[in-house]
Amino acid sequence: MKNNVSRRDFIRAGALTVLGSAGAAGLARATERANAAPVSDEEHGDHPTPTTVGVVDHVKNGFNPTDILTDFDYGKVSTLPNGQTLREYSFAAVDKNIEIVPGIEYPAWTYNGRIPGPTICCTEGDRIRIHFTNVSAHPHTIHFHGIHPFEMDGVPGAGPGLIQQGQSFTYEFDAEPFGLHLYHCHAFPLARHIAKGLYGAFIVDPKEGRPAVDHEFLMVMNGFDVDFDDENDFYAVNTIPFHYQKEPIQIKVGEKIRVYLVNVLEFDLINSFHLHANFFHYYPTGTALEPSEFTDTIMQAQAQRGILEFSYKFPGRFMFHAHVTEFAELGWNGNFEVTE
Ligand code: CU
Ligand code: CU
Repeated sequence: MKNNVSRRDFIRAGALTVLGSAGAAGLARATERANAAPVSDEEHGDHPTPTTVGVVDHVKNGFNPTDILTDFDYGKVSTLPNGQTLREYSFAAVDKNIEIVPGIEYPAWTYNGRIPGPTICCTEGDRIRIHFTNVSAHPHTIHFHGIHPFEMDGVPGAGPGLIQQGQSFTYEFDAEPFGLHLYHCHAFPLARHIAKGLYGAFIVDPKEGRPAVDHEFLMVMNGFDVDFDDENDFYAVNTIPFHYQKEPIQIKVGEKIRVYLVNVLEFDLINSFHLHANFFHYYPTGTALEPSEFTDTIMQAQAQRGILEFSYKFPGRFMFHAHVTEFAELGWNGNFEVTE
């Protein structure tokens, strides 16, 4: 946040000259419009906030943020001789260009070619086994939040330490405590390895389960520093700025909604989530079954996470967005489309 002027300059002018694509031009136009005040209703069209022009190529990216909302991965399931449930996953660290906004490709580092990586789901006490192979150009690890032995901590100097290019390691531990956690690479420089895209959600259900709901959604709040000046140029939920503004999340009046919200944003100290025309129950870290708060806005520092539960009373198209307005205007905003 120390130099917003250069960041805005990049988006307004740099994107045009450096990348020179039609998509970048469209983005620059949209951003110019956003920065020119006041903006007429006519110019804004359907959008209560700025947006990008066009859409990214989800097929080429290999993932669509709409699918990531509900892509919960329970792994390959079997039972150990002691009766414990074993969940196995295969993770590969892969370098991959991801089209973040139309016309701008970001040279990302990913787990399994997607950002966020697979959403690991299990029940407290399950054995988790992750077969990790590094096929990227840099050493990486997987560091899980949760309770586990030292050698499984996924940091340099613990167990196998850094997993070098072409090498593999199997991380294995019991899932505890129940709650909403995350995993990420812990190679140094850490900020770069996280900001490049090496992270994902790790959901541990309590043994007795959580109350049934109609929809569960994963939302990972992230951002992208596309000019590598250690400041984010775009903000998003599940990687693609403005995605849920263009493709609103479809729900119905009265349906019970549960959102698993994780903040992995690098470089900015605080992120936030605000829900329009509604309030939600908030369970910080998901480690208790009673909510701590009934509110419409929460904030999270990096690696903070929590579970939100709510229903919509009225139909309509309702925004959800970072209440850090700058983030909202640079991509972190979306809509719930609520129908009868
Ligand atoms: Cu890494
Ligand atoms: Cu962490």
